Amino acid sequence: MKKEIYQWQEVAAVEDITTGQPLEVIVEDTVVILLKVGDAVKAYQGLCPHQFARLSLGSISKDSLHCPQHRACFDIHDGTCGPGWQLPALRQYHVRVDAGVVSLAAPLAIISG
Ligand code: FES
Repeated sequence: MKKEIYQWQEVAAVEDITTGQPLEVIVEDTVVILLKVGDAVKAYQGLCPHQFARLSLGSISKDSLHCPQHRACFDIHDGTCGPGWQLPALRQYHVRVDAGVVSLAAPLAIISG
């Protein structure tokens, strides 16, 4: 079995992420959003796949992230696009939380999307 080895770059403190509101960070010239999902932190592409609105300006209700521009919604658990839209899932990045510090793989590593 192939073992994945990453370098990690610290991007935020967990306490910087407000529940129910995405936090935008710029990593390697890439816009990324961090979300609290239960006890976990998820990292997704920060620009909407429709017309590139900044998803950090969107809102979260129940289990969906709503784009601020045209209100497309994405499941916060896996980034898949919700009903009424046929957009690609949000690109999801490897993220690690250790001692309250959120780190992303360097270079950015995509889990899915
Ligand atoms: S830019 Fe996000 S739905 Fe249009």
